[in-house]
Amino acid sequence: PRPFSCLLNHVLNAARGNSRAAFSLILINGPLGAVPPGQRKDLLRMNKQLRKAVIAGNWKMNKTPSEAKALLEEIKPLVKDAGCDVVVCVPYVDLCTALEATKGTNIGVGAENCHWAESGAFTGEISAVMLKEMGVQYVITGHSERRTYFGDTDVTVQKRTRAGLDAGLTVILCVGEYLEQREQGITAELVAMQTKIALGGVSKEELKRIIIAYEPVWAIGTGKTATSEQANEVCAQIRKVIADLYDQEAADGITIQYGGSMNAKNADELVAQPDVDGGLIGGAALKAPDFAAIVKAASK
Ligand code: PGA
Repeated sequence: PRPFSCLLNHVLNAARGNSRAAFSLILINGPLGAVPPGQRKDLLRMNKQLRKAVIAGNWKMNKTPSEAKALLEEIKPLVKDAGCDVVVCVPYVDLCTALEATKGTNIGVGAENCHWAESGAFTGEISAVMLKEMGVQYVITGHSERRTYFGDTDVTVQKRTRAGLDAGLTVILCVGEYLEQREQGITAELVAMQTKIALGGVSKEELKRIIIAYEPVWAIGTGKTATSEQANEVCAQIRKVIADLYDQEAADGITIQYGGSMNAKNADELVAQPDVDGGLIGGAALKAPDFAAIVKAASK
């Protein structure tokens, strides 16, 4: 058999031109367990190169339509050469403005939530079908602020995720633990359970339109970022959950972001981690230079 390093080069070359070929080569080579320990890191890094890093802004309840337009005009030139996917998730009332302002650019537009029904007596709610018809491409589900303040549960997150997929959107599914849960040592179990429930009924094909955002609740909006090791550890655990639920190919292909006080200063180190494929950015997404710096970090 060919020495592993030779195979690795071959896969890297294939990856540059054709990621499908590279995936199948990895599959031919077998699971990571068959790889000599010294070369596992290379393989992890290589798999990372095959995945798309996605930097998504989560504007939360910020910016009126005119402010949204001004911010996007500032962001556009700064991210136009991005080497990663760039998304802005904005309040419902800013969607029209954001879609108009980003037309013909490399910036995708997302909503911050959606209801699970297509239509009906749900005063104040917005359906995924409505978002899709507007031209929206992404929707966030399961954000901890929705879970904490608006009663979202793992079950309703699953329903919202299902609705997003059914409408043809790409879903940014958020999972993450509270500080007490981390201190209890149940982060891995909790995040695995959130992931499994939310993905109930999602096929391997549909999984290509799922991005998972690992967001430790204690790090959101607090200025307390997870260390890059903590972020990578949980992202890797989530990837393992995907391998168990689907297969290694699905796990190698899925984009798993970190979110929680990611900023222009700490982004470099966080997004360089082998299992961290970009970020979901709150506060720093509201400042064009900061958001652009994070996009730059993820473009390396
Ligand atoms: P933050 O928010 O970057 O302000 O911590 C992240 C998020 O809630 O998605």
